[in-house]
Amino acid sequence: SRSLRLAVIPGDGIGQEVVAEGLKVLTAVLPADVKLETTEYDLGARRYHATGETLPDEVLAELKQHDAILLGAIGDPSVPSGVLERGLLLKLRFAFEHFLNLRPGKLFPGVDSPLAGNPAIDFVVVREGTEGPYVGNGGTLRTGTPQEVATEVSLNTAFGIERVVRDAFRRAAARPRRKLTLVHKNNVLVHAGHLWTRIFQQVASEYPEVTTEYLHVDAATIFFVTQPERFDVIVTDNLFGDILTDLAAAVTGGIGLAASGNINPTGEFPSMFEPVHGSAPDIAGQGKADPTATVLSVAMLLEHLGFTAESAAVEAAVAADLAERGDAVRSTHQVGDAIAARVSG
Ligand code: IPM
Ligand code: MN
Repeated sequence: SRSLRLAVIPGDGIGQEVVAEGLKVLTAVLPADVKLETTEYDLGARRYHATGETLPDEVLAELKQHDAILLGAIGDPSVPSGVLERGLLLKLRFAFEHFLNLRPGKLFPGVDSPLAGNPAIDFVVVREGTEGPYVGNGGTLRTGTPQEVATEVSLNTAFGIERVVRDAFRRAAARPRRKLTLVHKNNVLVHAGHLWTRIFQQVASEYPEVTTEYLHVDAATIFFVTQPERFDVIVTDNLFGDILTDLAAAVTGGIGLAASGNINPTGEFPSMFEPVHGSAPDIAGQGKADPTATVLSVAMLLEHLGFTAESAAVEAAVAADLAERGDAVRSTHQVGDAIAARVSG
């Protein structure tokens, strides 16, 4: 019989609540011969306050022994900004070389976009996950003085760019529309921008069947709102990808529906799946967070591990639930139960 060793990091705020529903759906959809072993890891604000730890080396070593990681949300107002984000979430993405941060932007039937006429939105953002301005390469000088200086230097390697650009081309070539958009800001960020553009063009020559375009990030934000149906696959750096995918969520029914996968395609390290949203401390513990983004992240997890039919079943169950959802206010549990019922029935 097959087995699936899953590490679960509920994290902070609504993380616990949404992850419980994700696991409910996962359990319901897995074939009977698959043995699901979950290990929950207590990481986040609670542990930080209790022990001062964010992600101890022993825990990182244990996490590595799993097939995948399901993460709820990280971040809490009681912890200084950046401590958990850098010390836990980004540390995981960097340590496990999650260079592929996949974030679908899909408007499901029945879901209302704030955009007039509910355009046909179905794209995927391939966000670089281990480089750019996220690496922490910078510092401050003359701290606390009027002459204080702060730098945050974006790191871009040819190796790091090429691996994510290649993945984006493979993905685009496998989709019906075969279109890939590079988003950057190469009119201003000329060093990194030109490296991205050059590598993109080199790889493009191997994919004549893929239509390519280049957009500056500011122009891309206009098209996300005025013409989102023009996008198929988008490849971009870590920070532009962060910003664009919140916008993508906003135009496809909101952050409660946006899923993501932090993927190490080589399989050397476990990939990690998480909703794009944060810990939402304002509604934590009230049972009203929408677990749909987590459930769709579970679908991405299944797909990544080769459970293709099960992944499709979860996505279909979510689509059916969304189509019938309307304006009804349902609890976190009710949404999870409804989707789980559809995949088991
Ligand atoms: C996200 C989040 C993170 C990011 C933060 C919490 C570090 O905004 O997953 O999009 O910037 O990547
Ligand atoms: Mn973000």
